[in-house]
Amino acid sequence: MNTTLEPAGKSNIKKRAVPFLALGGLWEQDDIDAALKIMTAAAQSNGNFFPLPEEGDFQKALARHEDCAHAVVVNSCGTALDLCMMALDIKPGDEVIVPGLTFVCTAGCAVARGAKVVFADVDAKTLCLSPAAVAAKITPRTRAIIPVHFSGLSADIEGFDALSKKHRIPIIYDAAHAVGTKHKGKGIGGAGLAGCYSFQSNKNMTTLGEGGAITSNNPEFSEKVRGLKTFGYVYGAQLRVTQIGYNYRMTKPQAATGMTQLAKIDRVIQSRLRCFQEMDRALSDIGEIIRPAGIAEGHGCHLYVARLDTEKVSFQRAEFLNHLKNEWQVATGNHYPAVWSWEAFASVDYDKRDTPVTERAVQQVMSLPLFPTTTHDDVAYIAHAIRETISTLGSKR
Ligand SMILES: Cc1ncc(COP(=O)(O)O)c(C=O)c1O
Repeated sequence: MNTTLEPAGKSNIKKRAVPFLALGGLWEQDDIDAALKIMTAAAQSNGNFFPLPEEGDFQKALARHEDCAHAVVVNSCGTALDLCMMALDIKPGDEVIVPGLTFVCTAGCAVARGAKVVFADVDAKTLCLSPAAVAAKITPRTRAIIPVHFSGLSADIEGFDALSKKHRIPIIYDAAHAVGTKHKGKGIGGAGLAGCYSFQSNKNMTTLGEGGAITSNNPEFSEKVRGLKTFGYVYGAQLRVTQIGYNYRMTKPQAATGMTQLAKIDRVIQSRLRCFQEMDRALSDIGEIIRPAGIAEGHGCHLYVARLDTEKVSFQRAEFLNHLKNEWQVATGNHYPAVWSWEAFASVDYDKRDTPVTERAVQQVMSLPLFPTTTHDDVAYIAHAIRETISTLGSKR
């Protein structure tokens, strides 16, 4: 067996394209059957997709899988975060602490409510929001903290629990990457006041391309967001409208595929873990690459975020990634540019940055292909391409 993960005949490697996203295999026959069953039944009756018994089944199964009491499914993680901000009544004058190394909506959900976003730094090892950095940013106006389980690695839940208790500030986790993530052997759905999951197409599981959920152990909060996501309706013998709400519902075929996707999520994560471990081994002798932390700690293996150690090389990440793409056809993802670097945030009221780890990380990160279908040979090829790229660019100096 090839234990070095160098492809055979390394001097004469045949170049081939390795895309960043390889979603083939994500849909299996059972997912297609589940969606078709709903659509066929709807076509044969009056096409009514509402009300939604499948939703209840999926919510229960998700809560069980993520080790929490309640799950409310919605149409995306972005809307899940929006609903949490509404449920907390976040408004102008409030401050919400978030990482800068995240997808825009982690911060956007607070901006949309007129609140001020306060960026705190991430931990240099895990790239998750640092409770110590957050502690330094808390003021009497802080109304919520949104850590991200970055790349599928659990955030420091004990650290945030302690902060939440001391300052009486709710923690809403952005769990977009974290279906199947474990913290001390347990799912992270019950951490903080709530967790916001994504089932968008490139996540660990997907509900027909879009979808999300809010998990919680708090029954009042769950009821609040359950009402908000569906026009404030309370169903019962008599329909009531108890609050002004919205329509952020998931469709019935989506909920049905949520069940089939969830049934195999552990197998999918095992495949991702196999690929993650192989990538880790394949890159272990490349001193210029910083490998991700947390592989032995319940990592949900959503993303393999490596970093180019820019202190050890004489070239920048852009040059490196261009060479990797153009010469070796290896594509990478970027998780993430700093939130404040997007033009929409230029005029946003945010705290003066004090985030050196984030500033460095956003110049270094590169997500390598990590999919259940990524093969041993793909991993070996990627590692070889990285090694050769460093050697070529380094020797030019
Ligand atoms: C960290 C993070 N939060 C939130 C989201 C938004 O998820 P959705 O597309 O389900 O709204 C994403 C999507 O990629 C994400 O990566």
